[in-house]
Amino acid sequence: GPAGIGVEINVDYVTVSVVDLAGTDRVRLTEHRDHRGAPPEDVLGHAAAVAARAARSAAEQALRPVGVELALPGLVSVGTVRQAPNLGWTGVPAREVFGRAFAALEPGPGGQPLPVSAENEANAAALAELWFGGLGRVRDFLYLTGEIGVGGAVVLDGELLRGAHGFAGEIGHTVVDPRGPACRCGARGCLEQYAGQSALLRDAGLDGDAGATGVEELRRRAEAGDARAVGAIEEAGAVLGRVLSGAVNLLDPEAVVLGGIYRELTPWLAAGADRELAARVVSGLWPPEAGRLRASSLAGDAARGAASRVVRAVLADPLKYA
Ligand code: BGC
Ligand code: NA
Ligand code: ZN
Repeated sequence: GPAGIGVEINVDYVTVSVVDLAGTDRVRLTEHRDHRGAPPEDVLGHAAAVAARAARSAAEQALRPVGVELALPGLVSVGTVRQAPNLGWTGVPAREVFGRAFAALEPGPGGQPLPVSAENEANAAALAELWFGGLGRVRDFLYLTGEIGVGGAVVLDGELLRGAHGFAGEIGHTVVDPRGPACRCGARGCLEQYAGQSALLRDAGLDGDAGATGVEELRRRAEAGDARAVGAIEEAGAVLGRVLSGAVNLLDPEAVVLGGIYRELTPWLAAGADRELAARVVSGLWPPEAGRLRASSLAGDAARGAASRVVRAVLADPLKYA
């Protein structure tokens, strides 16, 4: 049957998910690879090769991909990356470049290339959370994802908030200290300089560039009660909590969901964040024990969210894809 392909291209990995009409992951591939400094054409070409491999596995399962959606770590507008701070991209026509590379590998049914779309990766992950996560009846939530940067998305009344240009949710570039370290976005002292992956690893005494294995080590140390690891995560949580309290006061969400590397670090992040939230949320409705700050129940959700957007388009207009 019809299937959607989602391709998350992040700063240090690519994940491809192929989902069926039910949104179930039927193929899933992840490749770790540092994209910093690489030309966008190379990164997108590599992602296209991984996606083409996934498309072939899907075909072996009698799945028929009908489209591809990219999930990217930056500000995306109609297929173009306006800015992806940690990739160092500005004005990259990702949809077009990826589309060309992918079509060269997978010509599509009758030589008709599959349509490609693009979305911010935190937004895609938040939609996966909405559709497949453990939120139950919650329709208003904030989604934060810990990556090399810090991503965010706002879901209100069951709809992703887009804003005037599609850039809503960029919580990672909230100022924490105007004299703080330079951020890759061009400003100083942004949240992601305190609570992004590299900052967390560094503050815990690990190599900031250690990637997924570094994060795994951080979690292992925190679990073992290592004071420096626990302290670093709780402090990042406190910074997150202060920024989040502003967002909670502004938008009154029911829950805040933590994804990406934050998922596994939630117990310690929450210890720091909930205290700040309790002190600063003016409604007084944020007692830490309420459990409104929670880990995503999904892993690697951006690719699945993006793929699911593709199949939802099929469900909305079945004749077009018959
Ligand atoms: C980018 C966001 C992205 C986040 C996580 C930030 O630096 O501005 O668009 O979602 O990093 O990758
Ligand atoms: Na976003
Ligand atoms: Zn910034």
